[in-house]
Amino acid sequence: MEKREVTFRIFRFNPKRDEKPCYRDYKLPVPKGMTILEALQFIKDNLDPTLSFRAFCRSAICGSCAVKINGFPKLACKTQVLNEVEKFGTDILTVEPIDNFPVIRDLIVDWEPAIEKLREVYPYLIPDPEVVPHTLEEESRVYPGELKKFDIFTDCILCTSCYSACTAVKIDEEYGGPFQLARSYRFAVDPRDALKKERAKVGLAFNMWNCVRCEKCADVCPKHIAPVDGIMKLRGLSIEIGKRDNPGARHVMAFYKSLLESGMLNEVLLPLRTKGIKGIIENLPLGVMMILKGKAHSPIVKPIDEHETLVGVMKAAMEVE
Ligand code: SF4
Ligand code: SF4
Ligand code: FES
Repeated sequence: MEKREVTFRIFRFNPKRDEKPCYRDYKLPVPKGMTILEALQFIKDNLDPTLSFRAFCRSAICGSCAVKINGFPKLACKTQVLNEVEKFGTDILTVEPIDNFPVIRDLIVDWEPAIEKLREVYPYLIPDPEVVPHTLEEESRVYPGELKKFDIFTDCILCTSCYSACTAVKIDEEYGGPFQLARSYRFAVDPRDALKKERAKVGLAFNMWNCVRCEKCADVCPKHIAPVDGIMKLRGLSIEIGKRDNPGARHVMAFYKSLLESGMLNEVLLPLRTKGIKGIIENLPLGVMMILKGKAHSPIVKPIDEHETLVGVMKAAMEVE
């Protein structure tokens, strides 16, 4: 079988021994179909037995082998070397530990901070005694329409790739994290769960409104889950249970109110409705610039044509949700 020479530039660091990390190059002939994990194993078996990485199932199911390949978190066992070479147009692949975690050694990171956050969101079903039968003879049914709301989130393999790519995690240590908050939502809409929408309070405690909707979590998930969707819906549930006294919820309600009033976003009233007078003062320089450049509307906005139709569509969408 034809092989292609590929250089693996691998992050090496043993905090117990090294002052700082370095990168070491390993060149090897790569046949078609070889995965990054197989390449790492080849290097360990044949070139450098000190290389450390984590893996188990080799089938993209245990979530333990996530590493950064040319800057992007991926499962080493699911990613083929030659596909990456093709994609990046280079025979040099940089392999590093995923971000947002302390490095234990080489490509192995310490997941504990993220797993601790997961523990704190009660990531399991708390059976509702009104719904879940007390005996094994009776069924606990979940209907297709109910399952559809959370089915995709049950595919999470806890690989932590989304956490490693998350912008909010980078800037806020207290932020719950994408897979953790998505799991909160998963149980919040499970009809068998006792806490249900009350789980949104956990999201609030973990700063879910700090998610910046960059969608990186969705981009990197090897199971095609969009944790951000769960987080947005968890925010919605928090509004439903009356948790509106925070800038995030007020911002959403200000958008909604604007559209109900006129079908247009009232950018002048938005900071006032979100943060009160403080919002006006904070946004004054930007507001003045927008007015001077003709980018801001007057605070008195005339309803758009078909305004009533828009309001009807919005209300219907809310009912479907
Ligand atoms: S969308 Fe939110 S949760 Fe997802 S990566 Fe961005 S900040 Fe993190
Ligand atoms: S949501 Fe996706 S990326 Fe995040 S931990 Fe689960 S499987 Fe991994
Ligand atoms: S080794 Fe299990 S997901 Fe890669």
